[in-house]
Amino acid sequence: MRRMVAEHQVRPADLVLPAFVREGIAEPVPISSMPGVVQHTLDSLRKAAADAVAAGVSGIMLFGVPLVKDAVGSAGTDPDGILQRALRAVRAEVGDELVVMADTCLDEVTDHGHCGVLDAHGRVDNDATLARYAEMAVVQADAGAHMLGPSGMMDGQIGVIRAALDAAGHQDVSLLAYTAKYASAFYGPFREAVNSSLRGDRKTYQQDPANGRESMRELALDLAEGADLVMVKPGMPYLDVVRRVADAVDVPVAAYQISGEYAMVEAAAERGWIERERAIDETLMAFKRAGADVILTYWATEAARRLAG
Ligand code: PBG
Repeated sequence: MRRMVAEHQVRPADLVLPAFVREGIAEPVPISSMPGVVQHTLDSLRKAAADAVAAGVSGIMLFGVPLVKDAVGSAGTDPDGILQRALRAVRAEVGDELVVMADTCLDEVTDHGHCGVLDAHGRVDNDATLARYAEMAVVQADAGAHMLGPSGMMDGQIGVIRAALDAAGHQDVSLLAYTAKYASAFYGPFREAVNSSLRGDRKTYQQDPANGRESMRELALDLAEGADLVMVKPGMPYLDVVRRVADAVDVPVAAYQISGEYAMVEAAAERGWIERERAIDETLMAFKRAGADVILTYWATEAARRLAG
């Protein structure tokens, strides 16, 4: 009877797998704060993408970790940068069987770990960063990305990237806007995942956890600038924001279950404090109940297999 009257369902196609690829390694490197998640080689990434397809996952979001980082994130706009090579490798593996997405942001490729370039005072320079994003977006689309995820929270980033893509003939590359992205402690394990040593914090560009209504303003701007999907991040601590966004729009809504959320469940399960699989599935259902259409989760392939099985 419960099955008959269940209000929500998680489908494999709701799930998107975020994945890390690192330059200059011969074997995948485990991320200690995210048990079960690795920094991939190009080969192991291809295999992970194929496994995701087989499980019924609908998309993959790629993050590249270059060997050399610098102040402006040169690896991010190098056509042979690790993320671009990964995009080509994954497209060669899966074709159009997955929506292949790229993180359009500088923090994985800068030596200071910020999502943008810095001004003379060491503060993130919004408008100078937009020019870098525009260039990055075109290079990522050239490498085969179907969809870009601009995650840096610079004002105007969606509009600038949309215009750059259109001018370069990439009208059909779509944008998953990180619309409401909060300055969160839950990104902790991601720093290890992308070998980042962030100086300072992201409070000059990411949102204050105290603000819910502000997300509505970010939402209006992203939609006006051309967002195709809108996302809330982190996920679990911000399900109220997911609900608010879902009630307000008629575009698909995504939520990102981030590294710290993953780590909490894995750590508690490792200690025998919670039932791992039940807890994972419950968190995914919570996203659907809150109104998310798409869920980015490091458990995507595992959860999709369970749902199909
Ligand atoms: C920025 C970006 C971050 C994440 C995704 N894109 C880090 C940040 O904003 O600090 C975090 C994802 C996670 O924690 O799982 N490029």
